Amino acid sequence: MELRLPMPCLVVLVGPSGSGKSTWAAGNFAPDQIVSSDRLRAMVGLGEHDQQASRDAFELLFQIVERRLRRGLTTVVDTLGLDDETRERLLGLARAESVPAYAIGFDTPAKVCRQRNRARERPVPAKVLSAQISRWSEVKDRLVEEGFVAVRPPGRVRLLPPALVESPHLAERQSRTPLALDFGLQIPSFTWDDGPAAIGPYLRDIARAAEAVGFSSLWVMDHFLQIPMVGPEWHDMLDSYTTLGFLAAHTRRVRLGVLVTGVTYRNPAHLGKIVATLDVLSEGRAVCGLGLGWFEREHRAYGWEFPDRASRYALLEDTLQLLPLLWGPGSPSFRGKVLSVPEAICYPRPLQEQVPILIGGSGERKTLRLVARYADACNLFGDAATVGRKLEVLAAHCLTFDRDPAEIEVTHLGTALVASSPTELAAEIDRLRPRSSSAEAYAARVNAGTAADQVGRYRELAEAGVQTAIVNFPDLTTTRPIEHFAEVIAAFPSRPGRLGFPTNVADAEI
Ligand code: CTP
Ligand code: MG
Repeated sequence: MELRLPMPCLVVLVGPSGSGKSTWAAGNFAPDQIVSSDRLRAMVGLGEHDQQASRDAFELLFQIVERRLRRGLTTVVDTLGLDDETRERLLGLARAESVPAYAIGFDTPAKVCRQRNRARERPVPAKVLSAQISRWSEVKDRLVEEGFVAVRPPGRVRLLPPALVESPHLAERQSRTPLALDFGLQIPSFTWDDGPAAIGPYLRDIARAAEAVGFSSLWVMDHFLQIPMVGPEWHDMLDSYTTLGFLAAHTRRVRLGVLVTGVTYRNPAHLGKIVATLDVLSEGRAVCGLGLGWFEREHRAYGWEFPDRASRYALLEDTLQLLPLLWGPGSPSFRGKVLSVPEAICYPRPLQEQVPILIGGSGERKTLRLVARYADACNLFGDAATVGRKLEVLAAHCLTFDRDPAEIEVTHLGTALVASSPTELAAEIDRLRPRSSSAEAYAARVNAGTAADQVGRYRELAEAGVQTAIVNFPDLTTTRPIEHFAEVIAAFPSRPGRLGFPTNVADAEI
């Protein structure tokens, strides 16, 4: 049976001699992940069975475990595990580093342990083994009370990002009682092989592949230099709205948005004009993503002002009031806190009756308040528990403005690394991870999992209230991640309208 464990975790083996602990550890973990009291006895003493060296060996064992857990490295402790004090100390180390501890119980029949023991080169004395066997039957029922997350039988191990460990039963729930969820694809990077001349064809292929597998929206960032979280600043970066215009021409059904437009980069009326143009030319597929802007470096580079936070909030709020006026009939004048537009005039008006406005960010005091007051959609990130908490805050703000929270579309932005098998996934993690990051830390950061694993993760987000999951892939250098992700999208029914496929287009196509 598959044994799914979160990365990182502490794995403590518990069972009598000959129950198969070392054999299982060697078959499921890399040698450097296993800390064995026998091996340490051999290193500081005269051999694996040198009981005189036990004290020194255990002192080292605790030190190694502590150092590894501090670095967030999964660690397997191969000792008998039958000594209460040893387990208590190990649990203390795990708690101190907030690493979950799992006990692996080796419930091998006593007869088998005895047989194996007799067959060994240096058997444990029969009496000692009997004492271990009876000790095991005393200990096994209290492991969970002691503080282990769970006691598991020794199955075939799969180490997974924490968010994916419970995937199988969540995926099972999804297949029994499906929840709807739409998916968007964010394209945050344009640095591909073959240089700038190939960017257009690459983007076209990615957009078409995304539309073909059922992504209902495409998103780009609003940056002028690549941001530090994605790559170095000399990496290629395209202008956001020009790119969406290009994508509009190469797709039929997907919605198009900037995640999110920094409110500081353009005259807000001009921004409204750009979005209206995109909506008209894309036949009603524009989404207007808005945010405060944060990347001071590029404001300096381009000679834009970068007002303080309070002023940027004021500008964002003014823009939220201005845009519907600008997109509406006539040419009303607008006077906000920091923005004045003498004639808010825009023809052609957008095709959509109401271009959906999405506000990026999950700041609880200000951003979510603006969402409750003005926006059609929010954009959150983090795990399901975080989403749940943010939505409670949003609901409280809705109460203030007498707004029905159900009117606000909940979108989520997150990374997924997908591959067709655990083996392929491990190879991808190793290929893509920065050398300064452990495989486990990187896998957790990018939510690495097979498509089947991802179904469970997105089910959990859907249960928390997410309606559109916007995904970015760390390996979007070919259309392969999109093709792998098709299986995830297929597990979730779509919801026409809102940020899903626009109803007019979807009806025409299906
Ligand atoms: N063994 C086996 N079949 C298994 C597991 C183990 O035949 N499924 C054999 C091993 O080859 C070894 C012996 O049983 O010769 C003991 O296995 P081991 O994994 O070393 O047991 P441990 O629990 O690690 O024993 P100890 O506490 O003595 O280290
Ligand atoms: Mg052993």
